[in-house]
Amino acid sequence: MKKQSVWSCLLALTLVAVLSLTGCGSGNTSTAPTDAKSGQTASAQEQYPKLEIKLSHVAAENTPKGQSALKFKEIVESQSGGNIQVKVFPSGQLYGDNDEIEALQANNVQIIVPSAAKLSGFDKTFEIFDLPFMFKDEESLRKFEDGEGGSKLLAKLESVGMKGLSFWPNGFKHITNNKVEIKKPEDLKGLKIRTHGGQIINEVYDVMGAASTKIAFNEVYQALQLRTVDGQENSLVNIDTQKYEEVQSYLTLTNHARSEYVVVANKQWWDGLDAKTQSLLTDAMQEATKVGRDLVEKMELDSLEKIKSNGKMKVSELTDQEREAFMKAVQPVFDKWAAEMDPEVIAKAKEANS
Ligand code: LMR
Repeated sequence: MKKQSVWSCLLALTLVAVLSLTGCGSGNTSTAPTDAKSGQTASAQEQYPKLEIKLSHVAAENTPKGQSALKFKEIVESQSGGNIQVKVFPSGQLYGDNDEIEALQANNVQIIVPSAAKLSGFDKTFEIFDLPFMFKDEESLRKFEDGEGGSKLLAKLESVGMKGLSFWPNGFKHITNNKVEIKKPEDLKGLKIRTHGGQIINEVYDVMGAASTKIAFNEVYQALQLRTVDGQENSLVNIDTQKYEEVQSYLTLTNHARSEYVVVANKQWWDGLDAKTQSLLTDAMQEATKVGRDLVEKMELDSLEKIKSNGKMKVSELTDQEREAFMKAVQPVFDKWAAEMDPEVIAKAKEANS
């Protein structure tokens, strides 16, 4: 080979090497994998900081809360081009009822989703969903939560280092136990019932002659199995997904109160996010809330059907007259505690139910 052609060859080889290293070659396939995943991620990556958000909750994944959490993760990760990662920890895998609020305040987790009543230590008004027979249906709940009443309630968390982002649904509460079929308030006499805590629900059982005790959600199955308590109250979806039918014999469809969640973030962490990220998280939260709302009634019905067809618990419905007996028995509890809560929020809740 002539000297000149050796040089041309070397030059050509060097050019190919440089092009493939810099990714400029026409046949190059080594662009960032996230670019290939979604058309908009290259710009999304430039817009959003690298961030990991831990979201912890105590319910199962196949519940309205579990599905909303996954939707939130999906939207945030795809819209941020993978820059913002949401790690969801369901079933109390990371924190349970006893330590999740402290963990949030310490910023060990950025978002938690407790039942509203679990926040009542900060303000009694968070027990509004436990006021017996307060909310009549999904529509009245949405009206309240999306209106001034809901906003005022969420804002109460700001002074204690938390930011209320949304309300997510769980379902109306019903009672299970392993001793007796409950058809009237007196049937509860002498029973010991697990609750998620709060003074209102304790008094509800008090006036019906039952004892009640707060037990962390992820310890309830065992408490029922060991007969530390005779029964518990919860949404149909939780009753189903926690398999309480294995350790309970009776389910009465009382609809006596609502289990509703508050999605709570660490306020200092939230305030430290740039406006664009906050807006992405807010939009994703809205979509996630919608998913839970769209699912809740169908999931409650599916759970009820499943429980009925499994046939392990006797399912009792109440006639209007029987329900009225429960309403009458607990009316003094309603009156006492409604008077203790923020009057504006109570007025908005009543308005939403009218
Ligand atoms: C409960 O403790 O009964 C529920 O709030 C658990 C949950 O988060 O669904």
